[in-house]
Amino acid sequence: MKLRTLDSLGDLSGKKVLVRCDLNVPLAGRDITDDGRIRASLPTIVRLREQGARVIVLSHLGRPEGAPDERFSLAPAAHRLAELLGTDVPLASDTVGPSAHATVAAMSDGDVAVLENVRFSPAETSKDDDARASFAAAIAELGDVFVSDGFGVVHRKQASVYELARALPSAAGLLIETELRVLEKLTATPERPYTVVLGGSKVSDKLGVISHLLPRVDTILIGGGMLYTFLAAQGHAVGASLLEKDQIETCRDYLRQASELGVDIILPPDIVVAASFSADAEHVVVSADSIEETPFGASGLGLDIGPEAAELFATKIRESKTVFWNGPAGVFEMPAFANGTRRIASALADMSGFSVVGGGDSAAAVRTLGFADSDFGHIATGGGASLEFLEGKTLPGLEALGWQ
Ligand code: 3PG
Repeated sequence: MKLRTLDSLGDLSGKKVLVRCDLNVPLAGRDITDDGRIRASLPTIVRLREQGARVIVLSHLGRPEGAPDERFSLAPAAHRLAELLGTDVPLASDTVGPSAHATVAAMSDGDVAVLENVRFSPAETSKDDDARASFAAAIAELGDVFVSDGFGVVHRKQASVYELARALPSAAGLLIETELRVLEKLTATPERPYTVVLGGSKVSDKLGVISHLLPRVDTILIGGGMLYTFLAAQGHAVGASLLEKDQIETCRDYLRQASELGVDIILPPDIVVAASFSADAEHVVVSADSIEETPFGASGLGLDIGPEAAELFATKIRESKTVFWNGPAGVFEMPAFANGTRRIASALADMSGFSVVGGGDSAAAVRTLGFADSDFGHIATGGGASLEFLEGKTLPGLEALGWQ
């Protein structure tokens, strides 16, 4: 791994250190439903405090439309960070305005403060390079050095990720280092058999990673909303299930390539089909080629992989030496449709090889279902970032830290 690390920043005692974290946690109202990303940000923050730095935390939360919006305030995250650190963590009500400047001016060595959501400024995510650079320059005025530790956002060319790293002396934090060590292990010399479990809702989000992984893995297990496009590619009717019609041909092509390469793409043999998208919907289990042959006809929709599929996936996972899992197998938030995801998680927890749970949704799923982080080899904090790394793409946030 070659990128600038914390040591390269020298003595940080008394320095104002801007730290880009990914505190983009799932919320129910103002309650955090999974604080994993905040906990994952702690090692760097604690290390910087121990060095006597003044730690100024930056983050986005959600996708506000470039203007302040109470629903996307970092207040719950700052509050949780204060609880975890056991210290006061003030939140500035803006990112580069008077409140941010006053908050930073009031800090002493070892203090931690959070600046309000960087995405409240349209410049953060602007397509215009100059707009992003000016916003980064305004953020840079608040600090002496920059530590980039928001692994979940390193695939974004955004002001507080990319331009800020070029505006100040900068280095990667400990979370980014950890995440990269794991991903390098997956890409360099994964122990075989190597199985990838893909779920989540969109095939189009996973196209790059499937085509990149096909020559590198032994088995790909497909669940979640994306599986219905694969079933359609095999000629099956999928009722009202999620379907990306424009990706059917690509999926067909992947199935063809997989059989040429001797890679198993395994689709679920059975599906849980529901009458509607709701937690108490009537539902039945049918074979994957009979989704429309239920009492709900063509309006039935697949919301989970079936029990036979869950057992098959669990067996394949247990037989593997390396497993990377991204994306839930069903609508795990509704107990009736959580079985597939739970079974995959328990198989990963039981396997003796190296297991990686990749991404916000999957991490939230395993924690919601009662698994502990220590049940897995690693829980990655960034789904999109992990996938783009595995695709072999250059990630702007890493490039700006000298990644090679
Ligand atoms: C994530 O949730 O994957 C990261 O926080 C990045 O968020 P984004 O997809 O809104 O850029």
